[in-house]
Amino acid sequence: MITWLTPTNAALAAEIQQLNAATLPNGWQSVDSSPYAKVAVNADHSLFYKAFLPRNIWETPKAWLRGSRGQRAITQSQTLPKQGFNTPAVIAWGKLSGGREFMLTLAVNGIGVGSCIASYFRQPSNAQALYWKRELLRSLGKLVGQLHSAGIIHGDLRPNNVLVELGKQPYTFHLIDNERNQSFKRIPYKLIVKNLVQIGMLADIDLSRTDRMRFYQSYLQHYSRFNRAAASRLSLEVYQTTMHRLSTKNPDRLGSPNLPRTHVDNGLIYPLS
Ligand SMILES: Nc1ncnc2c1ncn2[C@@H]1O[C@H](COP(=O)(O)OP(=O)(O)OP(=O)(O)O)[C@@H](O)[C@H]1O
Ligand SMILES: [Mg+2]
Repeated sequence: MITWLTPTNAALAAEIQQLNAATLPNGWQSVDSSPYAKVAVNADHSLFYKAFLPRNIWETPKAWLRGSRGQRAITQSQTLPKQGFNTPAVIAWGKLSGGREFMLTLAVNGIGVGSCIASYFRQPSNAQALYWKRELLRSLGKLVGQLHSAGIIHGDLRPNNVLVELGKQPYTFHLIDNERNQSFKRIPYKLIVKNLVQIGMLADIDLSRTDRMRFYQSYLQHYSRFNRAAASRLSLEVYQTTMHRLSTKNPDRLGSPNLPRTHVDNGLIYPLS
């Protein structure tokens, strides 16, 4: 069954059936995704299709207790905006016979923060790029600080699950992959570390130690939980865990400089002066 959050669209319903059967209807292209999802985009109609594939054998029993990945993604897409955070609008979702759960969202005109930094802000050679890189990191710190202030832990806060809108200032972010988000009155310390480590999963050439400090200072300005000593303990723990984690990763999987130069030339990454 397909549940529409916008008026029912018969043509789109037929395309969803095809996508569910793992064929690509006209106008759709497949998008690189994790092994636990199938993602496709329709650029002309600004739509993303995502099918949720089971992560492990516990997926179904967990779904009985907490709701399926699809249900949780829908709930998050409704609660996040009420708390002041952007996330792509859901057009339709559901499960088709013999198929996986799926979700259809409106495309954000944006790019993953990880790819953005790797493509446009890797060791910036001019003052303008350097300025905007720092601005992007401060804005990102503010976003995560506000998220934690609201009691929200993102389930998978890797840099490419935060989309930054093209051609918009101040930098505006949209959160994706929200299905494992959790809300707390007071967030367990361990989960704060976890989110801060996730968002820092960028190679040294993309994020220097001072860049990380810049992010962190802005984060602390927007999340007032820690006194000075606690903040410096947290920063050390996050830094050491991040460095250890990075040393075990393949650099290619962190953030690839694969986005077109024209975005910068057209002033979509930062204003041209
Ligand atoms: N509504 C959207 N607007 C713009 N881009 C999107 C949208 N939905 C998905 N994308 C793009 O598609 C990519 C893959 O989608 P998504 O992050 O949801 O899946 P995933 O990370 O591969 O799966 P998993 O949830 O199993 O980790 C994203 O990194 C993003 O670039
Ligand atoms: Mg993702």
